[in-house]
Amino acid sequence: MKNYIIETERLGLRNWLPSDEKPFIEMCKDQAVMQHFPKPLSNVETITLIQRLQNHFHEHGYCYFAVDELETAEFIGFAGIMNQTWESEFTPCVDIGWRLKKTAWGKGYATEAAKACLEAAFNQFQIKEVLAFTTDTNTASENVMKKIGMEYIGTVQHPMMVGDPRFKHCVVYKSEAT
Ligand SMILES: CC(C)(COP(=O)(O)OP(=O)(O)OC[C@H]1O[C@@H](n2cnc3c(N)ncnc32)[C@H](O)[C@@H]1OP(=O)(O)O)[C@@H](O)C(=O)NCCC(=O)NCCS
Repeated sequence: MKNYIIETERLGLRNWLPSDEKPFIEMCKDQAVMQHFPKPLSNVETITLIQRLQNHFHEHGYCYFAVDELETAEFIGFAGIMNQTWESEFTPCVDIGWRLKKTAWGKGYATEAAKACLEAAFNQFQIKEVLAFTTDTNTASENVMKKIGMEYIGTVQHPMMVGDPRFKHCVVYKSEAT
């Protein structure tokens, strides 16, 4: 039985398990999944990312959670919230993010998980304001932001994208606790 921190109708969100490593490495190597990032991740980069997410979870009680499809109990990617400290006019902040494997796209899973994470941010973790960032090329991700009711507040140059001519800037969305 997995210990879900957030459950939706079709998804379970939890801390990361050793069994997530293999499928997450595959996902982060997929060109399609990583098309709006500077490059796909190496095995070591993905393992380091999982460790960073686990450490953040232990420190704050939340992170970009591992997501299971409840019907199959299969790991399909991540969705969640993280503290962001890179330097910009919008940070430090808590942001919401998502990354799913390709076979899980187009089923409304990102929207379902993101909506639940936003609610948990405000009601479970007492966060007052959540931002979301994505490159201006990532229409699917921006659509998720719009569909969960976030509001466009501007653009920013993310340090990860500096010098990459494909990505001029990131759009920034915001949602506040009521
Ligand atoms: C972003 C991502 C999580 C969206 O997942 P998803 O499960 O397809 O999202 P949903 O089905 O919940 O909804 C996405 C919306 O965008 C639309 N959409 C999906 N792919 C699209 C595309 N390539 N172009 C435009 N719109 C797209 C969907 O139709 C849906 O809108 P609709 O319900 O109004 O039709 C997924 O594409 C992904 O993992 N991408 C790679 C990682 C990534 O870029 N993460 C975000 C980084 S900021």
